Amino acid sequence: MYRARRLEKALDTPAHIYYKYEGGNPVGSHKPNTAVAQAFYNKEEGVKALTTETGAGQWGSALSMACNFFDLDLEVYMVKVSYQQKPYRRILMENYGATVYASPSDRTQYGRQLLANDPDSPGSLGIAISEAVEVAATSGGAKKYSLGSVIDPVLLHQTVVGLEALQQMEMADEYPDIVIGCAGGGSNFAGLAYPFLHLNFSKGKKTRIMAVEPASCPSLTRGRYAYDFGDSAGMAPAFKMYTLGHTFVSPSIHAGGLRYHAMSPGISLLVNNGDIEARAVHQLGTFEAAIQFSRAEGIIPAPESAHAIRAAIDEALVAKEAGEKKVILFNLSGHGHFDMAAYDDYRQGKLEDFEYPQEEIDKAMADLPQVG
Ligand SMILES: Cc1ncc(COP(=O)(O)O)c(C=O)c1O
Repeated sequence: MYRARRLEKALDTPAHIYYKYEGGNPVGSHKPNTAVAQAFYNKEEGVKALTTETGAGQWGSALSMACNFFDLDLEVYMVKVSYQQKPYRRILMENYGATVYASPSDRTQYGRQLLANDPDSPGSLGIAISEAVEVAATSGGAKKYSLGSVIDPVLLHQTVVGLEALQQMEMADEYPDIVIGCAGGGSNFAGLAYPFLHLNFSKGKKTRIMAVEPASCPSLTRGRYAYDFGDSAGMAPAFKMYTLGHTFVSPSIHAGGLRYHAMSPGISLLVNNGDIEARAVHQLGTFEAAIQFSRAEGIIPAPESAHAIRAAIDEALVAKEAGEKKVILFNLSGHGHFDMAAYDDYRQGKLEDFEYPQEEIDKAMADLPQVG
């Protein structure tokens, strides 16, 4: 955990801003916290091969590294738009020994069906999950499917982030007023936030807990709290969660890891109960915050993590306006060293803000499963 003293100075805010940096490992994000655990337990059970999806490539990189450590084969279905935007992520996964396919692919029945309807489909996390699940489900038990976010065991593996942050805040002799994380499926956010939320519930602490998502994929802020499938084909189980509909295909924003149609059921429940706040931010403001942060602190953030930075800066500016010393802690979930094309596009003015149209959301809602 670091205190962002230079950022505080640049903002001229009385707020104290801390960030927990999860990008310092070989693959550059929080994802190994669960990837290594999942590979380990699969190895213990005698599994020989895994399948998975990846959006931005961070999860695929982490599981590729972990599978290589435990001598497991890995097939990765990478959302096609990210496969095209981030060739170096694919190469990293291949270096670790994984096989990577652009999704939708012609390797699965579902992928072939989608390609027949739309050969230019950019893919989505939901589609890539369906392909990885189909490959595992039709392998006669030879391959198991591994998921990098959304479900409770993954979120619990990630709580090592918040448990460390709790101790580090103690060392800094402070306690956060606000804890912030970006939320795709919810794992880095919950990983940091749950231990602090636990103290809200058990010790009467009053920390505000905030999940930040892109305005172009606004599951928490504009989705419906309803049962829906975790994948596009409807092969994965249905959970009660905030969802934009499992057929939702997010616009091709650069924060590939935040393009999931729904949110972890646990986080959804907590948002619905009012224990967690949700906020949506736009792409341009997010990149502006990322550049401001990297100039002050030196670290180039992943575009996903930059959503948390945007909210942290906004909260620091609110504190400045109010003349209050707020302690703000956010999760810097990864670095953006493989996202330079996104930064280049931003600087060249090629990126746009995108508010998902209500009629598209309404259309996707029509396909929600009926759960009695
Ligand atoms: C750096 C980074 N942060 C955040 C996320 C979002 O995932 P989650 O909500 O599971 O933390 C991703 C997903 O790929 C990511 O790569």
